[in-house]
Amino acid sequence: MSHPDLVAAAAAVRANAHAPYSGFRVGAAIRSIDGTVHLGCNVENVAYPEGTCAEAGAIAAMIAAGETRIAEVAVIADSPEPVPPCGGCRQKLAEFADGDVRVTMATTGGARRTVTVADLLPGAFAATHMAG
Ligand code: THU
Repeated sequence: MSHPDLVAAAAAVRANAHAPYSGFRVGAAIRSIDGTVHLGCNVENVAYPEGTCAEAGAIAAMIAAGETRIAEVAVIADSPEPVPPCGGCRQKLAEFADGDVRVTMATTGGARRTVTVADLLPGAFAATHMAG
């Protein structure tokens, strides 16, 4: 799947977001290194902290599909500026992506901004830090 199509896939799954509390729908699409695409949307809950982000949903779908390495990410929301993943999702992405993996943040209005996983989480805590 090409880059614009990954954004389009994120836009399509965004329609399924469950966001009655914030009203802020987010869609995410992850292409894993085998070329398959895994989708997620935010799923809010009346107990607010139980809500989950679109990126977390896409990661869960990728793992459930048997893939473990991320090749590219797209995230889209209806916002004035492309919305960057939250801190928790940055750590979640770093678990399965090399630092040079591209993350494209998009708006429904057509704005695009592409950064890398390392840009999003410099100095990431990694398994190497636990090596005694
Ligand atoms: N949200 C995401 O799903 N991904 C992001 O990158 C930013 C925030 C969701 C969480 C919550 O449901 C809503 O957007 C408002 O924070």
